[in-house]
Amino acid sequence: MKILSVEGGRPLEGSIRVQGSKNSVLPIMAASLLAGGETVIRNCPDLSDVDVSVRILRHLGCAVRREGGAIAVDPRGMDRSDIPDCLMREMRSSVVFMGAILARTGFARLSYPGGCELGPRPIDLHLSALRELGAEIDETGGRIICRAARLKGGMVRLATPSVGATENAMLAASRAEGETLIFNPAREPEIADLQDFLRKLGTDVSGAGGPVISVRGGGPTGGAEHTVIPDRIVAATWLCAACSAGGRVELTGCIPEHFESVTEAVEALGAEVKRGADSVSVRVKRPLRAIRPVSTAPYPGFPTDAQPPLMAAALRAAGTTVFVENIFENRYGCVEELKRMGADVRVSGRTAIVCGVPSLHGASVRATDLRGGAALAVAALGAEGMSEIHGAAHILRGYERPDEALKLLGANAFLS
Ligand code: EPZ
Repeated sequence: MKILSVEGGRPLEGSIRVQGSKNSVLPIMAASLLAGGETVIRNCPDLSDVDVSVRILRHLGCAVRREGGAIAVDPRGMDRSDIPDCLMREMRSSVVFMGAILARTGFARLSYPGGCELGPRPIDLHLSALRELGAEIDETGGRIICRAARLKGGMVRLATPSVGATENAMLAASRAEGETLIFNPAREPEIADLQDFLRKLGTDVSGAGGPVISVRGGGPTGGAEHTVIPDRIVAATWLCAACSAGGRVELTGCIPEHFESVTEAVEALGAEVKRGADSVSVRVKRPLRAIRPVSTAPYPGFPTDAQPPLMAAALRAAGTTVFVENIFENRYGCVEELKRMGADVRVSGRTAIVCGVPSLHGASVRATDLRGGAALAVAALGAEGMSEIHGAAHILRGYERPDEALKLLGANAFLS
């Protein structure tokens, strides 16, 4: 089991370039199945979830080459329509391959996806979107079999603005006959990035970021080149890390408006923030003060993925900070571990109440999910002494070489 060791108690100092977005690159890799030639995807982060997507593409018969942060995918040799259960279980995003495989071959066989344990994560909205486009879906014994000799445009109405269901609907609709309208879609920046990529593949798609997405399907054209947007949750995590440790951190290569809700929260905690066109700098002099309640919501609201790192940053803020989690039922998995470092947090249902403590101490803790693991690292930076974060593989699903990144900012951190 991998361990990330982090020594806290000294301020961070330095500049860091924000990695490419995990939650953009994964659906874009699935979308590359729809191309008529080779696509080159740049700014891909080096993460275990990206490795899983490469394995899925290769299993399907695609030729995949990786050079640094670029991944080239040629789907012309695709000769399978299934994803083995062992790959499905590795990550939640495996499910967005469903719409793309179905659109490409008229058939898809897979099983239920794995991913972070954040409470129930159904895929009913994904399946009903595909059914609306004409797919026949059979779910028996944990298997999902989708068939559609011809997909047809339709009206997809999402009861909640699910990111993955929006992506699956966009992927399937891009090869359906006629127009598809997706009502109440997710508005996250990753949806606009997928729209940009699909346009490069010749799909007539518009509306991402708004209340309705329109997709007019068409046949595959050639390949495309695309640069993935920077990861707004990673950027948000670095802001929280600076608040926890104190010091000065500059983030470069980011899109500040994508994580403005988090920047406002760290400003309220007491950080001095300077926003540039593609950079954000923070200067943090402790002590911090508690902030108004933080309630997670779909974009452009406060992101659920940034809530655990912000909670970790608020552990030593004077006063009481309340968090309300509205997206996932079980997002407080890291709280018991944070308590081992001396945190005072009480959880009741979807609410967590953080009472600021004067100091935290290093401890041996266990990550149980990706952002909870990141929260433990953020807290460790503000704790006296050394912390050992077991289960660091969770962190590597979303953060590229976190030990090296922390060293760049002057922290003592290593992975073993
Ligand atoms: C995406 O997950 C992200 N993952 C998650 O990032 C993120 O936490 C989440 O969106 C919310 O922003 C990727 O993009 C790969 P949803 P997704 O479908 O698509 C309910 C991270 O740490 N729902 O928008 O799985 C669901 O239960 C992660 O990087 C249904 O009820 O999230 C949840 O309450 C983890 N039925 C809500 O919608 C469905 O069919 C939002 O989930 C689908 C979802």
